[in-house]
Amino acid sequence: MGFALQPDDLSPAGEPSTGASTESRVSLGTGSGGVAVPVDAACAEVDGHGSDGPDGAVEPSGKVGARVRRDVFVKINCAATVDGKLATFERAQVRISSDEDMERVHGLRSRFDAIAVGIGTVLADDPKLTSKTGRDPLRVIVDSKARTPVDAEALNSGGPGVIVAASGGARSERVEALEAAGAEVLRAGHGTTDLKLLLDALREREVSSLLVEGGGELNWGFLEEGLVDVMTVFTGGMVFGGSTAPTVVDGPGFAEGDGSKLELVSTKVLGGGVLSEWRVLDG
Ligand SMILES: NC(=O)c1ccc[n+]([C@@H]2O[C@H](COP(=O)([O-])OP(=O)(O)OC[C@H]3O[C@@H](n4cnc5c(N)ncnc54)[C@H](OP(=O)(O)O)[C@@H]3O)[C@@H](O)[C@H]2O)c1
Repeated sequence: MGFALQPDDLSPAGEPSTGASTESRVSLGTGSGGVAVPVDAACAEVDGHGSDGPDGAVEPSGKVGARVRRDVFVKINCAATVDGKLATFERAQVRISSDEDMERVHGLRSRFDAIAVGIGTVLADDPKLTSKTGRDPLRVIVDSKARTPVDAEALNSGGPGVIVAASGGARSERVEALEAAGAEVLRAGHGTTDLKLLLDALREREVSSLLVEGGGELNWGFLEEGLVDVMTVFTGGMVFGGSTAPTVVDGPGFAEGDGSKLELVSTKVLGGGVLSEWRVLDG
């Protein structure tokens, strides 16, 4: 498996026809002094080199790209409300993406080698984690205790298969049940699944790009470990509120001054919402 060098939904050459009436690209690029400036030229530079990352927007070794951490390009993609929630306080699946964003997401999935979600998302949403518009990625469920139900959609959706990324603490009968259901079960670390070890294991399986689709706890886990290269957030025109509703990044949170620093790559109006892409800077 490797990077599919295709134009992305964010690249000038590859924009889907969304009917969006306005679009802007801004960047806080090197030397900008923190002032947002148009980066059409920079985007064109990425396209012009034909060296885009797996979804084409930010390339690890390109002029505009971030470096790849640990040999696997990791992108977080999610849909959030204006107040930053991934779902309501009931934590059930809710549609935030527009039709245009869903189309983008399915295209994105087909250009990544693997896609990962946390067990919280599997239990709440039971997603298939497939692409309706292209090849399916390898599915990864980060689930330290191997709690994934054997009838979960992600286990039974064909394609290149599913890995349950558990830890040494998972009960062997659960591991055996998931293996009998067709999953490969990894044990990465001892308590909570060790995400660095997981990326190493994926790399050994020739996975060089991973799309992380939440939820908020797993997004935190990847960010906290410094494993994320790029974040893409679709902001839909809703407000959910609720102090217990999942947000884009949950977990215990960073202390002041320790938070991840991100650089804006592009913004785009997409079917009534706004898509923004951010490069995670080295801490
Ligand atoms: N709008 C969107 O784009 C979107 C996308 C995805 C999900 N969602 C919503 O988000 C909610 C689920 O999110 P969530 O935060 O509760 O669950 P989650 O992030 O999907 O899963 C979190 C769980 O993953 C396991 N895990 C194992 N190793 C981990 C590690 N190193 N770091 C972090 N987690 C690790 C932990 O459970 P164990 O300790 O048992 O292993 C943890 O509780 C649902 O409401 C869903 O609808 C929305």
